[in-house]
Amino acid sequence: MPTFAEFFAGIGLVRMAIEPLGWQCCFANDISEEKASVYTHWFGSDHLAIEDVRDVQIEDVPAGVALFTASFPCIDVSLAGNRNGINGRHSGAVWPFLDLVARYSRRTGAAPRAVLLENVVGLIASNGGRDLAGVIRNLNQIGYRCDVVLVDAKSFVPQSRPRVFIIGLQDGDPTITRFPAGEESRLRPAAVIKFFRQNRDLCFGESSIPLPPRMPLIGLDSIVDWLAHNQAELWWPPDKVARLISEMNPIHRERLRSLGRAQGPRYATMYRRVRQGRAVGEIRADGIAGCLRTPVGGSSVQFLVEIDSDRIRIRPMTAIEYGRLQGVTLDLPAGFRERQGLHAFGDAVCVPAVRWLVGHAFQHLTESGPTGKRPLGPLRDRMLEGKKRISSVGARVPIHAR
Ligand SMILES: C[S@@+](CC[C@H](N)C(=O)[O-])C[C@H]1O[C@@H](n2cnc3c(N)ncnc32)[C@H](O)[C@@H]1O
Repeated sequence: MPTFAEFFAGIGLVRMAIEPLGWQCCFANDISEEKASVYTHWFGSDHLAIEDVRDVQIEDVPAGVALFTASFPCIDVSLAGNRNGINGRHSGAVWPFLDLVARYSRRTGAAPRAVLLENVVGLIASNGGRDLAGVIRNLNQIGYRCDVVLVDAKSFVPQSRPRVFIIGLQDGDPTITRFPAGEESRLRPAAVIKFFRQNRDLCFGESSIPLPPRMPLIGLDSIVDWLAHNQAELWWPPDKVARLISEMNPIHRERLRSLGRAQGPRYATMYRRVRQGRAVGEIRADGIAGCLRTPVGGSSVQFLVEIDSDRIRIRPMTAIEYGRLQGVTLDLPAGFRERQGLHAFGDAVCVPAVRWLVGHAFQHLTESGPTGKRPLGPLRDRMLEGKKRISSVGARVPIHAR
């Protein structure tokens, strides 16, 4: 079985994604004790080094690792972040990671056959493309030909979460062509093709992955935490809902109305955003949740809105729902607080998206190929189990409330 080393492992969702494909984790690293408690709860602590990536000793990573993964911090390259760029305090952790890959290759005499880096789409344009180019140049120097693709979690789960993945395969690997075809697609949209063209000095290639599915197999109703639905204290009081509706931009109020015209309850998600100095509710009505974020400020909490005929009720989404939107149905450790759960999942990768990508890009590196292509089976079953429960709590407020 080929082995992988997972850097910036967080709660271990890369591991959760790829172990069913026939990969075995032999090393994991993350700086956060809190996330490590979830990782350990699910996977044990055998291979986990809880420390700054800068302190990882290369001797601690076993020889013969085929794949290094790194979903490194995004805060400095995200459009919503501080824009400090790839040398910022957080995202700059990618450099010690790359240094480890280089030192590992020298020490063991063999570079890992593949690397996979993940980050927000903002990385492509960060610093006019120079940040991403710097990372790829570094990988080229270690011996990797690189592809850059965009995969959105919404191909697999009802969450919009576009992410950029850098796929590095050793130059000479037959599954990566010498030059990218340069045609725009959902996988390599215009920004990526432009990036390829602007950096002709770099060693790019096109890995053999198909277009991801257009739509997820499950809708928002499949991720609802029905137990939370029955907790009266979670739902907003009627006056708060009424005020929110009355202060909404008419476009968003109309979204609620049109959802209310459907038969039976419908679900939408909402973020509160500050517009012209006021916090207003903005509804996403396409059956897909907005991108999960870590709950660091008021605007980063996502809400679930239930619309039934012309009545709505609102509550914050729960950590269980965040987990399901990342493709996870395992329970968090006992005593883990709700906010910690939102933080852990909001910062994580989407399991079925990573499974799909690794299953296609690195399938040839697993001895017997994928062993468990079941990206959403158990998730779907477990979520539908609770669906029949009826919840009557929480005030339902008419959409036309003023
Ligand atoms: C985007 S999250 C990755 C989440 C992870 N893939 C998961 O599924 O949970 C980035 C992770 O990098 C970790 N991190 C940030 N700075 C680090 C550093 N200097 N050394 C090691 N880990 C670091 C954070 O604790 C966080 O878990």
